[in-house]
Amino acid sequence: MNLVLRFLTTFPELIDSYFSYSLPGKAVRNRVISYQTIQVRDFTTDRHKTTDDTPFGGGNGMLMKPEPVYSALQAPLESQSTVILLTPKGEIFHQNLAKELSKYHDITFVCGHYEGIDNRIDLFSHYQVSIGDYVIGGGEIASLVIADAIIRLLPGVMGNTESMVEESFEDNLLEYPQYTKPADFLDIPVPEVLRQGHHAQINSWRKKQSLKWTLLLRSDLMLKHKILTKEEKKLLKEIRQEMINDIDNWIDHDSKS
Ligand code: 6GU
Repeated sequence: MNLVLRFLTTFPELIDSYFSYSLPGKAVRNRVISYQTIQVRDFTTDRHKTTDDTPFGGGNGMLMKPEPVYSALQAPLESQSTVILLTPKGEIFHQNLAKELSKYHDITFVCGHYEGIDNRIDLFSHYQVSIGDYVIGGGEIASLVIADAIIRLLPGVMGNTESMVEESFEDNLLEYPQYTKPADFLDIPVPEVLRQGHHAQINSWRKKQSLKWTLLLRSDLMLKHKILTKEEKKLLKEIRQEMINDIDNWIDHDSKS
């Protein structure tokens, strides 16, 4: 399997630097993926190689002109590439979309700059994606966020041929806390259960931590979690009892002081 990733951009160096690093670099060397940057400027027809222009109707900033982007898109479209337009008005990126996109064989990211791209380019995209409710300077970094999430799902990239089921968000639970050596750092010990090598107990502890921290930090994810198993229900009841004890201790402590 070889996923082709193409990037339409006026800043190809940004993309190159990402693919020269660690995991994505290795994925390129191992031919799990290949990538191509397409310099939009090469598709301009005027002497000054103009890629942007002022908006009709007035307003601040510059927009990317449609013709060079459209011309640059022809080769990907002829190759049946899936076109993703990066825009703050797109659907918000999520692990489920990363999974969906990881099934394609050829993806083209259209990275806008300035105030965006002429709206008529929307017609040639299969997806319009935003990476969250904030504004960044251009589509390049957004496209790399999405590419990164896709690449690590591909077989062979993480040294695991199966899907990474333990990962955060795969099952709508946050990941459990992780520790490495030393066992004692600044007098903060690694939880005892992790140091005993009892695998059933470790798995149970980890599941309980995932449930607890999802409940405390991201309760919005709770109802998205698949149906609770018997073990998960048992662990949740333990968490509830521990929290009740903590609250009662707090109240008692307060009334004594
Ligand atoms: Cl895809 N582009 C820009 N410019 N800003 C964003 C974004 C994309 N997603 C969130 N903010």
